[in-house]
Amino acid sequence: MGTWGISLFVLLACLVAAAPSTANFIRDAEITWGDGRAKIVDGGRGLSLSLDQFSGSGFQSKNEYLFGRFDMQLKLVPDNSAGTVTTFFLSSQGEGHDEIDFEFLGNSTGEPYTVHTNVYAQGKGDKEQQFKLWFDPTAAFHTYSIVWNPQRIIFLVDNSPIRVFNNHKASGVQFPTSQPMRVYCSLWNADDWATQGGRVKTDWAKAPFVANYRNFKIESCAAGTPCASHELDSNGRNRLRWVQQKHMVYNYCADATRFPLGTSIECKRSRF
Ligand SMILES: *[C@@H]1O[C@H](CO)[C@@H](O)[C@H](O)[C@H]1NC(C)=O
Repeated sequence: MGTWGISLFVLLACLVAAAPSTANFIRDAEITWGDGRAKIVDGGRGLSLSLDQFSGSGFQSKNEYLFGRFDMQLKLVPDNSAGTVTTFFLSSQGEGHDEIDFEFLGNSTGEPYTVHTNVYAQGKGDKEQQFKLWFDPTAAFHTYSIVWNPQRIIFLVDNSPIRVFNNHKASGVQFPTSQPMRVYCSLWNADDWATQGGRVKTDWAKAPFVANYRNFKIESCAAGTPCASHELDSNGRNRLRWVQQKHMVYNYCADATRFPLGTSIECKRSRF
């Protein structure tokens, strides 16, 4: 190889390393609970979770990641999903854990799901934002993504940013920067709080409830990769503004009842 050949080779190697790789559920994930209720399908390209009155089910990634972009396609429990919660989240282990959550709170037939997001750093959460979706999440697969780099966490739905949580560590707000996290997904019963504040219970006559996962992608956000400095462009900022104005149904930053002494610094500084 000449110099050109070598630099081309290096360039290609970098591209390959930074490109998102499609995970295979057989190779990259393990079913951790549910006693047969979680099933890998389609040669590892898909996974289904089910819930009945005896148990839910779940899986996790085999590897841990320190920063990354994680994409998952989900098709949520259809019809009467009241009481059920479907999750896709990152978490470290042990005391003072970090966590980045997507939780989908089911609803009665015809009523909209609530998408619940939260960020925990050093064991402290209380950073909830909730959204309604602009489509029926049970009719087809949609892509839900978490971008986590040292500067910010971005939640996306079909590539539209719905939330950005910036790193304000310099102002004393905890942010996950040092504990590697695994990807976790589960389907479980939470009818004591999930739907309409716990008023609507799971209808076990409709069990088993099934949620489907596929096209799990993991992209490195290690230093030097494009993802390491990923931020919103003007398109993304417009989209975020639209989602937050039209589809956000709860924002901890605006909850003076819960935070009578005032909300945290990142709320005041949250520029898109
Ligand atoms: C369920 O539907 C009701 C009525 O539309 C709505 O108020 C609620 O936020 C929805 N979601 C959940 C999880 O209760």
